[in-house]
Amino acid sequence: MTAHVLVGTSPTDAARRLELFALAARLGAEPAFLQLASPSLGQVLDQLAVAGETRIVLVGVSGGIDGPGVSWLRRIAADWWRTYGECAPEVATAPGFLSDPDEWSALVDLARPITHGGAGLTSAAWEDVPEHRHQVLVCRGPRCTALGVEEATRGLVIALMRQGLGDDDVLVTHTGCQFPCNQAPVLSVQPDDVWYGRVDAPTAERIVAEHLVSGVPVAEARLPRRRGA
Ligand code: FES
Repeated sequence: MTAHVLVGTSPTDAARRLELFALAARLGAEPAFLQLASPSLGQVLDQLAVAGETRIVLVGVSGGIDGPGVSWLRRIAADWWRTYGECAPEVATAPGFLSDPDEWSALVDLARPITHGGAGLTSAAWEDVPEHRHQVLVCRGPRCTALGVEEATRGLVIALMRQGLGDDDVLVTHTGCQFPCNQAPVLSVQPDDVWYGRVDAPTAERIVAEHLVSGVPVAEARLPRRRGA
């Protein structure tokens, strides 16, 4: 038996979870997520394997501009497949992300199985703590999601790219609720311990140019920070 799984890969996909559930149902697939939402890809693969599926085809989807590349889906799936052992069903991954439901059949047909002789299942880049000097924690909690963190994130990521700043300079990490929900969308910059509220795309661009590049926090968007004794 062959089972199909539609895999949301990006933080945006986690935020539009119900939309992807509906799309998966339309396509006759199980929904799963690579990060930030349930069910996880590992959970779904476990369930399908226990149910006796002998072949599982994964097709990824990636909303927004801050998701991982398609190779991540294959790597995470390969890690599950290797760990599951000899009883693992065949797992095949599509070579590209689904951008239109009409592409579904073609992507399923092009999926190729994970094998022991294939490309590396892990990456050397996953071994070490990255060398970034700043970490931007972007809140993807419910209030920040509802009040436009997607647009703020887009502004942030584009500004970082324009400045030529990669993960080894500024590591962008998506989080759950950071607590000052009334100030949403919220992000914080570490290790500077600077928190920002009501961040829109232009503010995010200023945070990149003025804080992350020039070292001067954007005072107008900064939230007061009181520390416990
Ligand atoms: S949802 Fe973002 S601070 Fe609570």
